[in-house]
Amino acid sequence: MPDSLSTLDTPAALIDLPRMQRNIQRMQQRMDALGVRFRPHAKTSKCTPVVQAQIAAGARGITVSTLKEAAQFFADGITDIVYAVGMVPARLPQALALRRQGCDLKIITDSVASAQAIAGFGRAEGEVFEVWIEVDTDGHRSGIKPHEAALLDVGRALHAGGMRLGGAMTHAGSSYELRTPAALQAMAEQERAGCVHAAERLRAAGLPCPVVSVGSTPTALSATQLQGVTEVRAGVYVFFDLVMHNVGVCGIEDIALGVLTTVIGHQADKGWAIVDAGWMAMSRDRGTQKQQQDYGYGQVCSADGTPLPGYLLSGANQEHGIVSRSAAPDADIATRFPLGTRLRILPNHACATGAQFPHYQALAADGSATPWSRLHGW
Ligand SMILES: Cc1ncc(COP(=O)(O)O)c(C=O)c1O
Repeated sequence: MPDSLSTLDTPAALIDLPRMQRNIQRMQQRMDALGVRFRPHAKTSKCTPVVQAQIAAGARGITVSTLKEAAQFFADGITDIVYAVGMVPARLPQALALRRQGCDLKIITDSVASAQAIAGFGRAEGEVFEVWIEVDTDGHRSGIKPHEAALLDVGRALHAGGMRLGGAMTHAGSSYELRTPAALQAMAEQERAGCVHAAERLRAAGLPCPVVSVGSTPTALSATQLQGVTEVRAGVYVFFDLVMHNVGVCGIEDIALGVLTTVIGHQADKGWAIVDAGWMAMSRDRGTQKQQQDYGYGQVCSADGTPLPGYLLSGANQEHGIVSRSAAPDADIATRFPLGTRLRILPNHACATGAQFPHYQALAADGSATPWSRLHGW
């Protein structure tokens, strides 16, 4: 075991760099083969070296979920940024400030009210905002349905209001509820076809719509053709997690984020080992609970990342985690995992687990660990 795994303070958020690099290469190669640009979602890592690795592999621009991420990554030298959360009037001054500094920030909307507010503010400030219209292709969250009349109303409010109507974008988040390749392919096609249809309706109405932007990790990894799409966005693929494993788009051995933890005690009669990773480290996310395999608060691995089948983080208090065997209590747990044993726990949801930590430990193939800071808050 590399020294770092026995000396790092725990709990620690480990990024297994060889796994992360493989995930980045796999996605980029897929996007290249499908003939689309790739715009990773930085909300998963919120970490500059991770995003730099994605760009080095061929990504063009990034997606963010907060304006704080936009400001951070712009300060790091990335200018092509989509803020992919519906714009509200109160945030327009922040968006304006970023654009005035030279950030090519794109914003999104899915309502006439928001489009009018953007156009009104833009005109008052002498700024032409680039705005993409959010399209709802799967009934999952926000957006305008591709066939709805409101799509053209929003397009006109922006275009006639003097803003740049830059494109249509969608995120088929309901792909997380699927698990068969056929269903995932069908969802990817629904996402593609719906967004392309929305763009074609805008164009047929004489409105510009150069960008057609789609994506989620499951659909990006399942699409068989992306005709009419100009770019794909995906986020969690960079680390993957147990939810994605249950969806069927990665192996356990692809999961690049894990929490290094130490065994701090036992309840041998219950078959428990107590570790220092509770929900404060793993997050409260129980995303696998409603999937075909429930991993509790995470899959237990040896410190080097080798899964220990059947051993789960079955319970989590704030700073205590309970490791147990899912099938039957392990009467030998105290000898199997003696006090001080280091374990690695793979998370249900990488974005949520990463968010518990102010920095990651980037674990290289040679076993060295480097702290990488991570953005927090809004
Ligand atoms: C608007 C938008 N685009 C893209 C993504 C990326 O999805 P995933 O993390 O499944 O790759 C998300 C994730 O929530 C999103 O909200």
